[in-house]
Amino acid sequence: MLDKVKELIGEVNEFQATTPEAVEDFRIKYLGKKGLLNDLFAEFKNVEPALRKEFGQALNTLKNAAQDKVNTLKDNLESADEQKGFYGDLTRPSEPIELGSRHPISIVKNQIIDVFSRIGFTVSEGPEIEDDWHNFTALNLPEYHPARDMQDTFFIEKDPDILLRTHTSSVQVRYMENNEPPIRTISPGRVFRNEDISARAHCIFHQVEGLYIDTDVSFADLKQTLLYFTKEMFGKSKIRLRPSYFPFTEPSAEVDIYWGLETETDYKITKGTGWLEIMGCGMVDPNVLKNANIDPTKYSGYAFGMGIERIAMLLYQIPDIRMFYENDVRFLEQFKTVL
Ligand code: DAH
Repeated sequence: MLDKVKELIGEVNEFQATTPEAVEDFRIKYLGKKGLLNDLFAEFKNVEPALRKEFGQALNTLKNAAQDKVNTLKDNLESADEQKGFYGDLTRPSEPIELGSRHPISIVKNQIIDVFSRIGFTVSEGPEIEDDWHNFTALNLPEYHPARDMQDTFFIEKDPDILLRTHTSSVQVRYMENNEPPIRTISPGRVFRNEDISARAHCIFHQVEGLYIDTDVSFADLKQTLLYFTKEMFGKSKIRLRPSYFPFTEPSAEVDIYWGLETETDYKITKGTGWLEIMGCGMVDPNVLKNANIDPTKYSGYAFGMGIERIAMLLYQIPDIRMFYENDVRFLEQFKTVL
């Protein structure tokens, strides 16, 4: 009798089930009204008194083991069910992932940042809503300076003037006010001008400003940096600098790259000359250094500024600047493969 109970304890401990029905059958077999345990308890009176204690203990062990087994098996099955509901079928093929694309302005901006960070330039930013000092006066454009007219400014407030910055050159001033030379920084950002919108011009566009200030910086340093940039960015190694005028640089120049005249598009975009203008630059005017509390007898530097849209239009042969702002997915999706 006792041996039988011990055997049953072993069986109970070994028992496994993968379905709720098997657990229920097990429960009925051992713990049901007509189950084994009730039968065995009924046998109790037939057991010799000397063995009753041991037999009773064994029966209790069997009962507890059966009850525990039912509980753990139920729990296990329930949590497996929960996991299935949560993860679904773990062997199924995954859903296709819909990839987005970066905006071409961001792609080109990141490329420019990448090229300049390789030669030690940091990235800086300034506010889009500017005051007169940082957008004009400190950049050697005092009140009534005729060059202010060319900038078609959106004013937000008058006296004191608060405006939407017309160029990222304002960040030059802010950077110099807050940092000591040596300075090597580029400042990408959005700029605003009250211009008629056309295929070539928009009232909102993007620029990247560059600024380099140190002791003994010369025009040759500027030229070399520009050449490095055009090689890296466009794979073109011929540039020319045409004398120009900007109030904040002296001397000033406009940079053209030799694009070539191989295709019909080359003819069209270079108007048959093979040359393309890509940015303005120059040696920072001593007055600008003074305005930003940098000693022009000790330090010199160069600056440059370029339009991101223009460069993106050249690189991707985009015919109309308005396409950048329409967010037409048929246009944007074409940049999916570019990081
Ligand atoms: N701020 C000029 C513009 O918006 C671009 C520019 C030209 C920036 C010459 C410069 C520079 O730093 O040296 O047209």
